[in-house]
Amino acid sequence: MTSRDLPLNGVKPFEMCGKQCVAFRGGSGAVHVLSAYCPHLGANLGVGGHVVTESESGDDCIQCPFHGWRFGGDGQCKRIPNLNESELNAVKAVVKKWQTIEKNEVIYVWHHSEDKDPNHYPKDFLGKNYHNLSLIGSYLRLLHCNYQIILENGSDFQHFNYRHQVLIPYITSLKFSFDSTYETVTEITITGRMTIYLLGMELVTVPIKLCHVSPVTELLYMGTDESMLGTVLSLATLEVPKD
Ligand code: FES
Repeated sequence: MTSRDLPLNGVKPFEMCGKQCVAFRGGSGAVHVLSAYCPHLGANLGVGGHVVTESESGDDCIQCPFHGWRFGGDGQCKRIPNLNESELNAVKAVVKKWQTIEKNEVIYVWHHSEDKDPNHYPKDFLGKNYHNLSLIGSYLRLLHCNYQIILENGSDFQHFNYRHQVLIPYITSLKFSFDSTYETVTEITITGRMTIYLLGMELVTVPIKLCHVSPVTELLYMGTDESMLGTVLSLATLEVPKD
């Protein structure tokens, strides 16, 4: 989800790889992601739960809508109504915390099938090396496939002229040509040109650059460093097919 999807004191339930999760942004502005189900009687914290600030610790918490138990961003239960601190500690209530980072006006959550820690982090695409970009829009499309398919499709440039040649039907069309590929340890970049046609007449040809910058992220630059037509940031999401 994008940063703007989660305003201050916002709560958002979502599904990740078949798991129900809840994201919330506390009064501090920090984003936290927890598993959604309350360990008390299983209410979904993302449905009717709300953000509170613990009066003593100042921790950002989400309060369960059912009986008011409060969980911090670390997943620990910080308060149970009518219990003192030693009674609260004896209950040992906790929900799973998901590692998350907010960057590029996007909220990323780390998922590993064996619960291992992150082995890479997203780059700062909005910094100076990436043309001081700003996120102006987003859309979400769920694809029932492994994320590897999405990345392979992005670098399969031979299909561009067959699948992506129409911009506005009967009015504007595109033609692509790619000429070089280079890679570093962490990035693969393909360069080429894109020609825009208006009513069949060639309008303009601009350089394009397609960069794979992580296993789930690719950037498509259109234009030159000085004169950018635009950049498309694509985040691939793993969707696990349901039985
Ligand atoms: S179900 Fe969450 S506090 Fe009871």
